[in-house]
This record gives sequence, C-alpha cells and structure tokens, in this order.
Amino acid sequence: MKIITVQSELKKEIELLKSQGKTLGLVPTMGALHQGHLSLVKRALKENDALVVSIFVNPTQFNNTEDLVQYPRTLERDVALLQTASDAILVYAPEVADVYGEDVASVHYDFGGLEHKMEGQFRPGHFDGVGTIVKRLFEIVTPDYAYFGEKDFQQLAIIKKMVKNFKIPVVVVPCEILREENGLAMSSRNVRLKPEYAEAAPFIYKTLQDAKVMFGTERANKVTEWVESQFENHPLLKLEYFVIADIQTLETIENKLENTLYRAFVAVYADDIRLIDNLALN
Ligand code: PAF
Repeated sequence: MKIITVQSELKKEIELLKSQGKTLGLVPTMGALHQGHLSLVKRALKENDALVVSIFVNPTQFNNTEDLVQYPRTLERDVALLQTASDAILVYAPEVADVYGEDVASVHYDFGGLEHKMEGQFRPGHFDGVGTIVKRLFEIVTPDYAYFGEKDFQQLAIIKKMVKNFKIPVVVVPCEILREENGLAMSSRNVRLKPEYAEAAPFIYKTLQDAKVMFGTERANKVTEWVESQFENHPLLKLEYFVIADIQTLETIENKLENTLYRAFVAVYADDIRLIDNLALN
C-alpha cells in the first residue's frame, strides 16, 4: 500500500493510472477509520479500477478548537484496516500545508440555503470548511466516483450541490449508514464515549425508529414534540436538535405532502461528544 503525503507525488500516480485508462474512485475521510468507512472502501474498490483514500483531519471544518484537538488521529491503525480490503489503495495522508499552503482558511460558498440548516445552524462555517476541502480533493485526485456516507446526509446534499454548481466531473455516490449491533450509527467519535454514554447512545436510533412509526399517523410537529420530550427525560443524552425535513430542500416541514420524501435528523450530546444520525421516514 502506498502512503503518499505530498500532492505532487499523488498526482504523478494518478496521471499514470489515467494514462492506462483506469477509472478512479475517491473515499475522503478524516481517519479514525471504522467498519463504516471500510464499507465505502469496499464498494469503491468494486466499482473502480483504482482507489484513493484520503486521510486528513481538515482544520477548517471545525468550529470548535477543542473538538479539532481531540479528534482521533490513528494513521497506523487506519492503514492496517485499509490493508484488509486491498493492498493497492493509494492513501493520501497530507500535512495541513500540503493542502492549504500558508493560508489555512475556507472559501465562502452559497449552497442555496442548504448550508444554514441543522448542522450549519449549530456549527457556523462548518460547510464552508467541508466545501473547501472536498473541492480541493476533487481537484487534486480528479476521481470519476466519490463515496460519502449518508450519516452526514446534509454534507452529502451540499457536496452534490457543489458538484452541480461548479460542474465538477465526478459522480457522487451516497452510501447507507452502517450501524453497530445496538443500532448506534458508526462514527469515529464513538470510541471517545465513556462506557455509560456508550450504553446510553443507542437510545438515539431507537427514538428515530419510534419517530418513524409515529410519523405514519401523526403530524410532523407532534412527532418532534414527542422526541423532544423523550430527550428531556433522559438522564445522560442532551438533544441539540431534532428536525423532520424534506430530503431535497432540507426544509423543516409543517405538513406532509404527497410524493415527497422526508427524513428525521438528530444531533445529541453524550457528555461532550456530539453524535448525529438520521433516518428515512417514508
Ligand atoms: O465526512 C468526513 O469525514 C469529512 O467531512 C470529509 C468529507 C472527509 C471532509 O473533511
């Protein structure tokens, strides 16, 4: 497995692959890889001749410095995990300077309002940071296909919008959320949960599932009120938001419409660890 830290070197490898007519996949990650990432990697390996996995904790998407400092960095373990899928993966694991040069700042984007809802509301500047790094990775790697997990559904919607706005020649492939046996959505942050919080956290998915059942017969605001009351009564988990939204616009809904798909989105604090999840409702 080649671990490349410098983009000029990566570009040379990519030029060679492209000259051989090979299709190229990209799985962008911030490392601390788990089975969820591995499922994206396996799919990308199946659907492409060659694969780049980027491992880069992108500083510009963190609105909370402490979160950036605490974010797990486990390159050796990550590489060992990738090795279980294939030895032919190109790992791009740059330092900040290789990606940003001296100007570690994000570009400001207009994603048609998608960026102001939910995560955007609670993590100001987050999607400018995500847009900046993903666009840069697309420019460096020039992938044919790029794979993103639906756990970050809003991120996925924004990346699709960016690809359309900038006419970037890449197919964005959404990948289903992978869950622990207890239902907790897989996340790099899960390893930081203290035992009592790890035990409590599956309540998030359980509540989403109950909300889905309720959504079959009740109005959206009734479901939202019910979810909020469930978390108010919870001794360990603190709800930041619960939103039922149209999957196209990410607008919170008042009333259900025919032929429209909805999803429930949630962000919860388990101690100081912020967990997000979402579930298709229809
Ligand atoms: O989803 C993530 O891990 C990150 O937001 C991404 C897409 C790798 C950009 O840093």
